[in-house]
Amino acid sequence: MAEISNQLRNPLSAFDVVGKVYIITGASGTFGRGCALTLASMGAKVCLAAGSGAELAEVATEVAELGGECVTIQRRPDTLEDAEAILATALDKFGTVDGLVIASGFNKAGYIHEQPLEEWEAVMNANVRGNWLMAKAVGKWWIDNNRRGGKVLMMSSVRGRHGNVSGYTGYCTSKGATDALTRVLATEWAKYGITVNSIAPTVFRSKLTAWMWSDSEVGQATRARSLARIPLGRLGEVEDLMGMALYLLSPASDFCTGQIMYVDGGLTAG
Ligand SMILES: NC(=O)c1ccc[n+]([C@@H]2O[C@H](COP(=O)([O-])OP(=O)(O)OC[C@H]3O[C@@H](n4cnc5c(N)ncnc54)[C@H](OP(=O)(O)O)[C@@H]3O)[C@@H](O)[C@H]2O)c1
Repeated sequence: MAEISNQLRNPLSAFDVVGKVYIITGASGTFGRGCALTLASMGAKVCLAAGSGAELAEVATEVAELGGECVTIQRRPDTLEDAEAILATALDKFGTVDGLVIASGFNKAGYIHEQPLEEWEAVMNANVRGNWLMAKAVGKWWIDNNRRGGKVLMMSSVRGRHGNVSGYTGYCTSKGATDALTRVLATEWAKYGITVNSIAPTVFRSKLTAWMWSDSEVGQATRARSLARIPLGRLGEVEDLMGMALYLLSPASDFCTGQIMYVDGGLTAG
């Protein structure tokens, strides 16, 4: 009989992130906060970045309540200088970085024949350029310092695969590009031992989608239409994402890279 390995005796050890350091962009947002609290609860250290100082401070307070260690920087990854400043904040405080969660992003809907180019570019910049810049800054540090085992987690969406919902030429295009970036970087960086994956959620309750939970007619109609397409019969809550996030950010996923992980109640199965 084969020997029973340590990991098969203790499978949870593969999810151990105690003492590891993670940068999280969009940390003021719903997914960013969820990742920050999950990682802190698991004993990791977090560097939280976002544009909204007050909301960032609230998340930092929550991390501290959980006994976690964190540092904050009030910055979005708009430029390479921003991305490098976010990295430098983590390095100054903790001396290293083990993982990167890019949870900053947004949407501005509009029909293509009416939408100004600037709005489309703003969505692409937040959802694609920001990912590229953060990955570039952190990945360069890992490669230059010969640090293997780095984890990159980006936020895609089922919209990267589904055209459904008109008025989303910016958002869907940006998420399709995120999927492609995930795959290309995963193959480019495999030799450095860096994994790159994305989570692609369906509609989750968050600040971004708060309008779908409002009393507005368009919000109610959009939520009902989204719900009708989910086999599991409900929309997502941030907790539904955290198992996948922890998997992709821990050694448990060391042989998983370049994947778009759908957490969507079965939407893309149908
Ligand atoms: N919620 C969903 O249903 C859903 C579904 C699929 C995918 N996603 C994706 O998941 C990620 C996180 O979404 P979420 O639901 O957590 O949204 P959220 O609560 O709105 O958080 C996103 C954060 O991104 C930052 N942000 C906003 N506009 C930005 C811009 N122009 N440039 C850079 N950062 C900006 C905001 O922080 P500051 O304003 O403080 O900088 C915000 O807190 C996004 O990429 C989103 O597309 C969400």
